[in-house]
Amino acid sequence: MIEVSVPGKLYIAGEYAVVEPGHPAVIVAVDQFITVKIETARKNGTIHSQQYSDLPIRWTRRNGELVLDHRENPFHYILEAIRLTEKYASEKGRILAFYDLKVTSELDNSNGRKYGLGSSGAVTVATVKALNFFYDLEMDEMTIFKISALAHLAVQGNGSCGDIAASAFGGWIAFSTFDHEWVIKKQKEWPLSHLLFEDWPELTITKLKTPKNLRLLIGWTGSPASTSDLVDQVNQSKEEKNRAYQQFLADSKQCVQALIDAFVAEDVLMIKKMILKNRALLGELSQITGVMIETPALKELCELAIACGGAAKSSGAGGGDCGIVIADQRTGILPLMSAWEKAEITPLPLHVYHYQGGAQ
Ligand code: PMV
Ligand code: MG
Repeated sequence: MIEVSVPGKLYIAGEYAVVEPGHPAVIVAVDQFITVKIETARKNGTIHSQQYSDLPIRWTRRNGELVLDHRENPFHYILEAIRLTEKYASEKGRILAFYDLKVTSELDNSNGRKYGLGSSGAVTVATVKALNFFYDLEMDEMTIFKISALAHLAVQGNGSCGDIAASAFGGWIAFSTFDHEWVIKKQKEWPLSHLLFEDWPELTITKLKTPKNLRLLIGWTGSPASTSDLVDQVNQSKEEKNRAYQQFLADSKQCVQALIDAFVAEDVLMIKKMILKNRALLGELSQITGVMIETPALKELCELAIACGGAAKSSGAGGGDCGIVIADQRTGILPLMSAWEKAEITPLPLHVYHYQGGAQ
């Protein structure tokens, strides 16, 4: 039997700007997992996901008609990941077989989401990785990223795929997304194996070392948020406010680049400064677009952490989910833990997850 576990993720900085090619974000893989198991089957295969049978299927109404929001349904990510990996396997001359595929998840609960740790990205990567073993395809981390990104985009349509990169590479990464239009165009023209072999314009994924004196703390607000809805909302207003949006992009790029340099230099003071700067920039993006990124609960989470000597901001799309705090190893965390508890913020005991010996 093949069994593959893939970690969830948290955005540290660069959110929203990272949706545009060439604008970096820092993202980290955390030790909550999605596991995919594959066993050979005969004549018929099955797909069973804890994420599916245990979860309600969300729907909405458009022009009076009931429609399922595929982006919220983990099953579609699994199916797309299978379709693309099998396309690649066929191009590589593999004979397609039957199997039973089973997904278990620490990243979802019965409401369909847990902490916003990226379950749709992780399940996509886990499915691709499991089939990579099943068909003996010998993909490296970058190829696993690229197939998973294509599968994710086919379902979600928007987003940077930074969550995919964190789940595929593990640890801390600096990430800038690829030119999506170029990839979509070439996907129509080239065989999949050719597209996977080429460098994708603007895509960079660089592993970062964890600075020695850095402590990462995570607080959960208790309310779930939909990344794809929030990104749609920002996309809608950015055309009207184009000048201010372009300024936000330039400022975010400069800030996150300084943050990445500070990671390389292991300069925790500068990392903290850039986290606070990025928080302020996301505040400006909220003003420009009218989209609430830092909810009152996230604001409180951040203010309490800053009062205790940390640098804090919302993580990812915001609107709920988690906030992150960067502190010096020497800063005691007990005062913050009790302040959060009083404010009904839940500290999440997560650790950064590194793959042993590469992505396999
Ligand atoms: O809310 P999360 O953790 O899924 O992060 C979303 C980050 C965005 O930059 C807002 C969107 C994206 O796809 O990068
Ligand atoms: Mg989120």
